[in-house]
Amino acid sequence: MKKLVISTGAGMSAESGIATFRDSGGLWDKYPVMDVASADGFARNPALVHEFYNQRRRELVAAEPNAGHRAIVDLERLFNVYVITQNVDNLHERAGSGKVLHLHGELMKVRALDDESLVYTLPDALVGSPDPLATSVDTVIDGHKVRPHIVFFQEAVPNFEPATEIAAEADIFVVIGTSMNVYPAAALLRYVRPGVPVYYIDPNPATVPDYVTVIRAGASEGLARLAAILGADA
Ligand code: APR
Repeated sequence: MKKLVISTGAGMSAESGIATFRDSGGLWDKYPVMDVASADGFARNPALVHEFYNQRRRELVAAEPNAGHRAIVDLERLFNVYVITQNVDNLHERAGSGKVLHLHGELMKVRALDDESLVYTLPDALVGSPDPLATSVDTVIDGHKVRPHIVFFQEAVPNFEPATEIAAEADIFVVIGTSMNVYPAAALLRYVRPGVPVYYIDPNPATVPDYVTVIRAGASEGLARLAAILGADA
């Protein structure tokens, strides 16, 4: 089976009602990004950061995977599909995608402040607490204070190297719903072998090299068109 690598951004979850970051009305219109999603911000006011992610957890558990997430799962019938996502939601996994690599962390997970190898999944980790989706500066799990298992701005992206190895083996590479603003994620395209077909699905696409085939559509519609192009719409 050909290796189909799909790199997704916030636009992938837009049709599930999850706000993107830089569209008008997006998260960064409402929250000062360096206060709620940076290492300095967490050091300065961890309570604000915990509440920002608690609010996003509450929205996520109320959301469902959309037709685009399901279309990616359908492509597993014909291709060896790898998803590399900038998203911290778990909608790809909940749709049934088997191989998902998160570049920027996972919203439903937290990790010990004093040992980053200790990662806990909410709400299991907080079962019995008044709100198993909510963490605070005082939340302790197994005796460890915790933080969001999120890659904050100003922090390294440990999964980028494995992501480049996956991209370098792609027979087909697809980018969906990202403004290409954030590095190193936006540089993933550079690791795709020359000659490999590249598609970019986005209703308001960023400028990309001319070897990229742009499908100017939302995720669900764009994936339906891509499936037809790939002969996977049977
Ligand atoms: N289907 C597909 N794409 C969509 C849709 C949709 N229904 N709606 C909007 N989009 C596109 C927008 O046109 C835009 O290109 O999704 C993209 C969203 O861009 P951003 O909000 O910048 O999100 P993203 O590129 O994923 O941000 C990258 O920035 O703040 C950090 O860590 C955060 O992972 C995030 C990173």
